Amino acid sequence: MKRLDDFRLKFGAREYVPIMIGGMGVDISTADLSLVAARLGGIGHISDAMVPTVSDRRYDTKYVRDKQKLYKFNVANMDKSAVQFDLAVLAEATETHVRRTMERKQGDGLIFINCMEKLTMNGPKDTLRVRLRSALDAGIDGITLAAGLHLGSFALIEDHPRFRDAKLGIIVSSLRALQLFLRKSARTNRLPDYVVVEGPLAGGHLGFGMDWAQYDLATIVAEIRDWLREQELDIPLIAAGGVFTGSDAVAHIDNGAAAVQVATRFTVTRECGLPDDVKQHYFTAEEEEIEVNQISPTGYPMRMLKSSPSIGSGIRPNCEAYGYLLDANGGCAYIDAYNREVALHPDEKKLKVMDKTCLCTHMRNFDCWTCGQYTYRLKDTSVREPDGNYRLLDAEHVFRDYQFSTDGRIALPTGESA
Ligand SMILES: Cc1cc2nc3c(=O)[nH]c(=O)nc-3n(C[C@H](O)[C@H](O)[C@H](O)COP(=O)(O)O)c2cc1C
Repeated sequence: MKRLDDFRLKFGAREYVPIMIGGMGVDISTADLSLVAARLGGIGHISDAMVPTVSDRRYDTKYVRDKQKLYKFNVANMDKSAVQFDLAVLAEATETHVRRTMERKQGDGLIFINCMEKLTMNGPKDTLRVRLRSALDAGIDGITLAAGLHLGSFALIEDHPRFRDAKLGIIVSSLRALQLFLRKSARTNRLPDYVVVEGPLAGGHLGFGMDWAQYDLATIVAEIRDWLREQELDIPLIAAGGVFTGSDAVAHIDNGAAAVQVATRFTVTRECGLPDDVKQHYFTAEEEEIEVNQISPTGYPMRMLKSSPSIGSGIRPNCEAYGYLLDANGGCAYIDAYNREVALHPDEKKLKVMDKTCLCTHMRNFDCWTCGQYTYRLKDTSVREPDGNYRLLDAEHVFRDYQFSTDGRIALPTGESA
């Protein structure tokens, strides 16, 4: 019986355990979580979503307070075009986040940063350029370009000294998206080092429409695999979305993937950044409590628990402090939805906004409980303590379970709770 450990992901002459822990913003895939993957010979991700906020929390900086102070005059104004990110601050925050993580790295694995290209930050190109370059400056092993694939991203860093030595990968959910990216970046004469193929069961934003249920990860992987062969392109494919056991992972490798990217099973580990009480919501979730909805202002469908406090919340847009989803003109779909409700209910103290959410604020506060489709199976991965809570897992335990399990089995934690 094959185990995931029988395989290795190869980048040139180097070999890795074929397990990538996916990026989960905002600081859900923490430095600690990524460090476990690297120590065990796999690949971990930190996330570049809302890094100044993360830095304030982790490294005692005051970026958010300073930005809020600077733009205080604009809080009641629904035109947010004045609210700009200071690029020097953004660079500093990214460098701190990456450097502090890389300094602690041990083992033979790698640490990548998941770059959410859909964070348009009231200046899409300039802010993205700074985020990518600062991560490279600070020594990140690689960058995974995610949600909202900006087709010109390679060009933004092609003159960076590490452009050819850092690992660069992209996330796609279709062959067409991959073809578009390759066509657009052909001029830089550099292929991605890996392609994460993310299917419809993943957590976070989906690269599908609301017809996501009609798609199937293995079929998309096979289609991309065949096309790459035809083109004589040798790019490792990493299958992601709904890979719940080591045996699921082996099936994808048999189907032509070189590794898997997994996330949901790590949301209930000690190292995961979600608060412990939220982790218990993930443990106890039933299948019917998980939905794909359209409340993300990005325009991409997103999967989450129906009990997320962010759903229906009508808080005032908080762009002076955050503003990560402001488009190039200072607009955000949540601002429009909020204004509409204010106009409809001028005397209402506690507004409800059902169709969009203030994603920055709610992700920052861990009130948007995005999750993979198989979150309802997490209860089968741990044991219940006498107080009724599920026991949080060590990320190492989950990693090794993926690596060594066979026959679709899931190893429960043993011994006393920590
Ligand atoms: C809580 C959570 C947050 C996520 N956030 C991001 C993100 O910020 N960027 C991204 O590219 N993918 C994100 N994802 C997707 C994962 O990186 C991963 O590709 C996917 O969830 C793998 O499927 P699985 O969760 O079924 O293992 C997130 C997933 C989860 C569960």
